[in-house]
Amino acid sequence: MRNSPAASKAKSSLLPTLARRKYSAAVVGLGYWGPNLARNLSASDDFDLTALVDIDERRRDKVGSLYPAAGRFSSLAEALKDRPIDLVCVATPVSSHASLAEIALNAGANVLVEKPLAKTTAEARALLELSVKVKRKVFVDHTFLYTGAVRELKRHLDSGALGKLLYIDSVRINLGLFQPDVDVVWDLAPHDLAILHHLMGRGPKSVRTMGSCHTPKAGTDAAMADVAYLHLDYGDDVTAHLHLSWLSPVKVRRMIVAGEKQSIIYDDLEPAEKIKIYDHGVSFQIPDDDEARRRLLVSYRKGDMRAPNISLAEAISTELADIASELRGGPTAVASGADGFAIVRVLEAASRSASAGGSKIEVEEA
Ligand SMILES: NC(=O)c1ccc[n+]([C@@H]2O[C@H](COP(=O)([O-])OP(=O)(O)OC[C@H]3O[C@@H](n4cnc5c(N)ncnc54)[C@H](O)[C@@H]3O)[C@@H](O)[C@H]2O)c1
Repeated sequence: MRNSPAASKAKSSLLPTLARRKYSAAVVGLGYWGPNLARNLSASDDFDLTALVDIDERRRDKVGSLYPAAGRFSSLAEALKDRPIDLVCVATPVSSHASLAEIALNAGANVLVEKPLAKTTAEARALLELSVKVKRKVFVDHTFLYTGAVRELKRHLDSGALGKLLYIDSVRINLGLFQPDVDVVWDLAPHDLAILHHLMGRGPKSVRTMGSCHTPKAGTDAAMADVAYLHLDYGDDVTAHLHLSWLSPVKVRRMIVAGEKQSIIYDDLEPAEKIKIYDHGVSFQIPDDDEARRRLLVSYRKGDMRAPNISLAEAISTELADIASELRGGPTAVASGADGFAIVRVLEAASRSASAGGSKIEVEEA
């Protein structure tokens, strides 16, 4: 039997309401980054911020006072007791990511884990396996992938306008913040590695890391570096170089994405013109005759520079909408657990290289 037009109309007007039920969400870890997640969850059309968790009572109270409707808890297990939570956001130090995410998954919640997903590939793999077993999702907060700048970079690269990708060079340096349980590579490189993985659709084949440590606590162990240089080989003649530091007097967030036809400079500290596309390039000619062949003929092309208009919407809010869409049965979110795992693999290889004085370490296929 066919529905009457009136019945169809009533049904279709109900559908968006049903489809857009709000998911309950908790934030664990209310230090520097967690409050950003709490603020975006509380402003979201997709989530209700229902629980705030921190072992530190002062942080609980400080953030809790901004969101009086959310319960305050000193442990995740307590927050999950007797109340269903759809999404647990883990924003604690890296060494506790895997154990907290495991508690959340076992309680039937999905998880959004801060970068990096875990401290080892074994932990990251176990989390993904558990998520399959309990039929819940793991997301990783690779925040930059949701910025207007990185979205524009990706769009431009995919359009082919850059020509063949040649190399990527990134500088991510500032004074601190020193982390208690990871070095500068595990703290800052996840941003660049996630951006590169997103742009190229693949991870590096190998990595070399030169790291140095200047803090008395960690001695001179290069594995606890506060300054590091990563050289990554992505195959197909594409290399990337990352300069990471907690010991720079000034903050720099600048990436060069160089192509045969065009190059892009992405400066995240620019207020509006974060992406600048340079219509510059170099072409090489090898002359036919033997005499001239010794001289490589280089011609330089210098065209215009343009700064496209990019969205300045806050990345976390776009990310939460993407996650909610996947929870509702939509496509896999950009912040996928699988990519989080791939990044941890590279970080582990980078640390092995640093410990081996910069030796080339192959990154196995994730
Ligand atoms: N996505 C980003 O751009 C971005 C930026 C900064 C930090 N981060 C990530 O966020 C995470 C936290 O970094 P931060 O700088 O906010 O650290 P932080 O030290 O400022 O805060 C961590 C908080 O977690 C709490 N905590 C620790 N163990 C806990 C536990 N078992 N249960 C409940 N609470 C616990 C601490 O009391 C503290 O309040 C790290 O993984 C970091 O890599 C991500």
